[in-house]
Amino acid sequence: MPQVARFWNQIAQDFDAIYSGNKGPLGRALDHWLRKDIYQRFDWVMDRCGDVRGKSICDIGCGSGRFVVELARRGAAHVTGVDVAPEMLKLARNLAAQQSVEAHCDWVHADVIDWRPTQTYDITIAIGFWDYIAEPPGRLQKIRKFTTDRFLSAWPRFWTWRMPVRKVRLQYISGCPVYFFRKPEVYRILEQSGFRVERCDTVGKLFCVEARST
Ligand SMILES: C[S@@+](CC[C@H](N)C(=O)[O-])C[C@H]1O[C@@H](n2cnc3c(N)ncnc32)[C@H](O)[C@@H]1O
Repeated sequence: MPQVARFWNQIAQDFDAIYSGNKGPLGRALDHWLRKDIYQRFDWVMDRCGDVRGKSICDIGCGSGRFVVELARRGAAHVTGVDVAPEMLKLARNLAAQQSVEAHCDWVHADVIDWRPTQTYDITIAIGFWDYIAEPPGRLQKIRKFTTDRFLSAWPRFWTWRMPVRKVRLQYISGCPVYFFRKPEVYRILEQSGFRVERCDTVGKLFCVEARST
C-alpha cells in the first residue's frame, strides 16, 4: 500500500489534469482518445446514481474529488471521500471549496480496510480503485458493512491491449502494482461479499458494475 499511496501522491496534479484539461492540446487530444473511458465511467456513475438529492454517498479511492464534488453539486446530503494519497485529498478539498460544496463533503485519509466509519451510506462508489488492490474480498466485505443500498464499481478488464501497457508503465517502471479482472471473478467476489450484481456494462477497457446490498 505505501507504494500505491506514494505513486498517487506524486502524480496527483497530472491525474487531475485529465479532468481539468490543464495541459497542451496534444495531451488533451491523447486523453480523449486513449483514456476515453475515464470520462465514460464518470458519466456512467452519474447516470446510475440517478437523483441523489438527500442521499449519503461514499467514494472509496476518491482521488482529486471529481465524483464527490459533482455528487454534492447534484444535491447529495453528504459525500465522504476516502483516499490514501494526501495530495489527492488536498486537490479534492480545494475543488469542493471552489464549487462551494465543502459543507456537504468530508475527507478521510485512510485505506478503507483500516477506516472505522461512523455512519452508513445509501450509495458507495469505487472507481479506478480495484486496479490497485491485490485481494479485493476483505475491502469489499468492509464496504458492504456500511453500504445500505447500492454499490457502483469499475474493474479493469483482463487481457485488453491496455493491460500489458499498464503492467509495464505502472508496475515495472513506476513501482505501483496493478491488477486486472475477468467478469466471472468480479461477479463471484461481489456476490460472496454480500452484493447482488444487477448490471454489468463494458465501458472501454472496464467492467462497470451496479450491485445491491443483499
Ligand atoms: C486512478 S485514481 C482514481 C480516482 C477517482 N476515483 C477517479 O476516478 O477520478 C485511484 C485512487 O485510489 C487511491 N487508492 C488506491 N488504493 C487505495 C486504498 N487501498 N485505499 C484508499 N485509496 C486508495 C489512490 O490514492 C488514488 O487517488
